[in-house]
Amino acid sequence: MNKKWWHDKIAYQIYPKSFRDTNGDGIGDLNGITQKLDYLKDLGIDIIWLSPIYQSPFVDEGYDISDYYQIDKAFGTMEDFDILLAEAKKRDMHILMDLVINHCSDQHEWFQKALKDPEGEYGDYFYFRKGKDGNPPSNYRSYFGGSAWEKVEGCDYYYLHMFAKEQPDLNWNNPKMLKELYDMINWWLEKGVSGFRIDAIINIKKDPDFESFEPDGPDGLTWVWRMVEKVEGVGELLEDLKKNTFDRYEAFTVAEVFNMKENELDQFIGDNGHFSTMFDFCAHSVLASKKGPYGSTAEKLEKLKHVLFQSQLKCQDVGFMANVLENHDIPRCIDRYLPAYAQNASGAKMLGTISTLLRGIPFLYQGQEIGMRNCPMDSIDDYDDIGTRWEYQTAIESGLSQAQALNACYHTSRDNARTPMQWDSSLSAGFSTGKPWLKVNPNYTKVNVEAQLSDGDSILSYYKKLLALRKSSEYREVFTYGAFCPLLEDTENLLAYERKLDHKSAAVFANFGEKELTVKAEALSGATVLLSNQDNVLIKEGQITLAPCQVIVCGR
Ligand code: GLC
Ligand code: CA
Repeated sequence: MNKKWWHDKIAYQIYPKSFRDTNGDGIGDLNGITQKLDYLKDLGIDIIWLSPIYQSPFVDEGYDISDYYQIDKAFGTMEDFDILLAEAKKRDMHILMDLVINHCSDQHEWFQKALKDPEGEYGDYFYFRKGKDGNPPSNYRSYFGGSAWEKVEGCDYYYLHMFAKEQPDLNWNNPKMLKELYDMINWWLEKGVSGFRIDAIINIKKDPDFESFEPDGPDGLTWVWRMVEKVEGVGELLEDLKKNTFDRYEAFTVAEVFNMKENELDQFIGDNGHFSTMFDFCAHSVLASKKGPYGSTAEKLEKLKHVLFQSQLKCQDVGFMANVLENHDIPRCIDRYLPAYAQNASGAKMLGTISTLLRGIPFLYQGQEIGMRNCPMDSIDDYDDIGTRWEYQTAIESGLSQAQALNACYHTSRDNARTPMQWDSSLSAGFSTGKPWLKVNPNYTKVNVEAQLSDGDSILSYYKKLLALRKSSEYREVFTYGAFCPLLEDTENLLAYERKLDHKSAAVFANFGEKELTVKAEALSGATVLLSNQDNVLIKEGQITLAPCQVIVCGR
């Protein structure tokens, strides 16, 4: 395996709209991020991924880009961006842009031109198809619900949008369109960004016939990812992309990939893969299964353990995965993963430890480091997210009461992760002096950065120690390159693994059960405790007793 500059780095995702507002308009901005660079540096962060900051109508919160070369006014100016970049560089930190190139906004100049003339030059930047017998070209359901085809007024053409109708899909078979994308990517790399998080990229390859599938719901439609799963050849597009852009700059790329085909891992993240790394979403399959979408039980953690271990074992000979507990599309991890008895500081630290010390690149999400939680909302009007609104509507139509539908949103909504960052206990959590664009979680008076900075026992203080341990001169290599070895996998309520490199090793033992647990393991003999989320840790004769939700890291 060739060593790369990013192998031992720790990354952090910022959702700019909710990070820090400096001009009182209720929307986070680039100057707010620059202000907080020292905070992130102090936490132990090397790489910052910014969710989209390009010009956008914000139908899907910036994932609908109307000009790839402009910073949206809400976030500031290009000068502000240049300052952020320079200030990050000074601190030896890297900035990643979010690359949304499966689709753009319907307000993008290309699409506006295409609408006027679907058969013209710009029509071919997108997918315009004629309807069939008064129906859309195929029965695909978009990721946000409803048909993935939108009728163009005044003619019999429809255009494809795998996400919202305001997000038309770009035609990757058109070399002219591709050249425009590549030029744009290289322009940002020239500017000095270190790479990209790459949005929804698996969707770029389409079956040009757009054949219909057996319906999978009463709406007669089928999820559009059925086509993605079936079509071959995304790899050729990805190689061309890489060769013409990222490769030229040693850029770091982390891809959002769902529905990858079996056995393609090496092509995606191997030494010569399409990307540097991709997010490990293996937990998704577990969390989406039985007992409601996100309801958590210890049983679920048990299952998660096996999925996680399989994934780690499968990936370690191939490349590096990016390990995440949270992002802007999923609820907060304490609510999502932990049983009721573990939804506290100990539980948060335990989860953080398990995830951060896996093999791969750790990605933290803003607010995770202080244990931010899902946010209760009073009505559907408090929600902004396009996906949540559709889910709420569908729930009501299927017979749920408003209260029940709202409760479902509380557990599943993407807005749970998008509420403003909680900096202190002043009005609006110190996020803004104006009215925040999205409700602030009422728990901010207790859960906030300021309070946790001055508390040596806080989740934040713990994360600092955890990241410092991962980067310590003694253990950095082990945590970066060490093999992943599951320990005592069949012991119930225990999640334990060892990282090993030559003669050095470190091990994690987490008791996610409700009762005390005594474990005996070879990895404990001769080892010293490096970190724990609770006091009173004593390893004696290769044995240790863990309190409920206790995690320890030991090394030798
Ligand atoms: C990705 C983003 C999500 C967005 C979608 C469409 O999944 O993470 O927020 O809605 O792509 O761009
Ligand atoms: Ca602002």
